[in-house]
Amino acid sequence: MNTDVLLGLQWGDEGKGKIVDFLTPKYDIIARFQGGPNAGHTLVFNDVKHVLHTIPSGIFRDNALNIIGNGVVIDPYIFKEEIDKLIAQGVTIQDKLYISSRAHLILPSHKALDEAYEIEKGVKKIGSTQKGIGPTYTDKTARCGLRVGDIITDFDAKYRELKETHLKTLAHFDYSFDIDAYEAKWMEGIKLIASLKIIDSEYFLNKELEKGKSILAEGAQGTLLDIEFGSYPFVTSSNTISAGACTGLGISPKKIEEIFGIFKAYCTRVGSGPFPTELFDQDGKNMQDFGNEFGSTTGRPRRCGWLDLAALKYAVMINGVTQLFMMKGDVLNSFETIKICTEYTYRGKTIDYLPTDAENVSPVYKEFKGWNQEVLAETFEELPIELKEYISFIEQEVGVPITIVSMGPEREKTIVK
Ligand code: GDP
Ligand code: IMO
Ligand code: MG
Repeated sequence: MNTDVLLGLQWGDEGKGKIVDFLTPKYDIIARFQGGPNAGHTLVFNDVKHVLHTIPSGIFRDNALNIIGNGVVIDPYIFKEEIDKLIAQGVTIQDKLYISSRAHLILPSHKALDEAYEIEKGVKKIGSTQKGIGPTYTDKTARCGLRVGDIITDFDAKYRELKETHLKTLAHFDYSFDIDAYEAKWMEGIKLIASLKIIDSEYFLNKELEKGKSILAEGAQGTLLDIEFGSYPFVTSSNTISAGACTGLGISPKKIEEIFGIFKAYCTRVGSGPFPTELFDQDGKNMQDFGNEFGSTTGRPRRCGWLDLAALKYAVMINGVTQLFMMKGDVLNSFETIKICTEYTYRGKTIDYLPTDAENVSPVYKEFKGWNQEVLAETFEELPIELKEYISFIEQEVGVPITIVSMGPEREKTIVK
């Protein structure tokens, strides 16, 4: 069998958690391939909301194994909090969650460095989630990081050595963080990780594929936050794109089949950086209110704006998306007019692509009549005509079919075409 990949096409928070949970019954394995606790993936079922940060979104279903791949970075403190919460809710973990020995660990001092660097940047700050993501991936590429596999061999010495290096750097900043307090609980998290199944996940996953098992690779963040193709430097520090599933799991591109690209019917962004269609008017405020657009990880308000087709086409191209899933259609239910950005004006010209300096574009919009009603449809055919026209315009422009339309946060508010 093959691997399918599900990833975000915008600036994150597209609704990945909801759809991974929805699709899990079709797969044997759900595998996270990058990012870490900067992610907040929300699932809503049986009237309860769950937010996952490091753990794959298949964990609430009994049919699938969940793998934290080599490309993920783990903060044991946050990881333990997540696991404790799941156990308290009666979710079994031991036989359902495996961790790659190659996944890197976020140290308390990585978190401190992330915060110190952001303070130092002042108005130029990235708006990071301050979970230590950047400094941990920096150490990974600098070849001095600490990995899950290190927990079983000479861990204390390796930990102290890396922490000391960080403390020397931190001494240059006018910033203090109670590392000792954080460290105590962090070490409990290390013990917890050591008690779970630590595996060479690249071997495991490839053997399972040979046996005919199916894998859904779960992305975190979104394409426009990718370290390579996002709006650099206002990006995260990993490859959030489909290629990231290969490096973050050790699966060959030949074994990737479907690439599910997920996007909101409008756009949001949390943190700094260019956002061509951002709204500062009542429409933007309504999107924020109706969509409850506040970060799942940090609680920060998300910036809101109209759908950006040039950016969406860029993301579809970079990822090789084969199916599109459109989320949060219901948030636009009461809009009389809805706009889509089809082109930009840029340096005196009209263009239909996303340039590297995206901060210099202005959007050109096409207006659509809103469906302006509560949508109770359970099938695609029953959707209001105006919503179907909105969907069909996007499909034609992008050249990829929209096969899922989500009309609410709950599992059952998912319309499959
Ligand atoms: P993720 O990071 O991509 O998993 O997305 P988040 O969980 O951070 O943010 C998506 C938010 O939208 C969560 O609060 C979801 O419960 C919610 N959500 C997902 N799909 C829909 C939808 O179709 N309609 C509405 N109104 N909310 C949705
Ligand atoms: P999910 O998986 C939305 C943003 C931050 C910041 C930038 C860098 O829930 O979609 P980092 O902490 O990674 O160094 O922050 O990236 N960011 C996200 N925005 N959703 C996320 O994850 C995000 N993870 C990071 O706000 O702008
Ligand atoms: Mg999120």
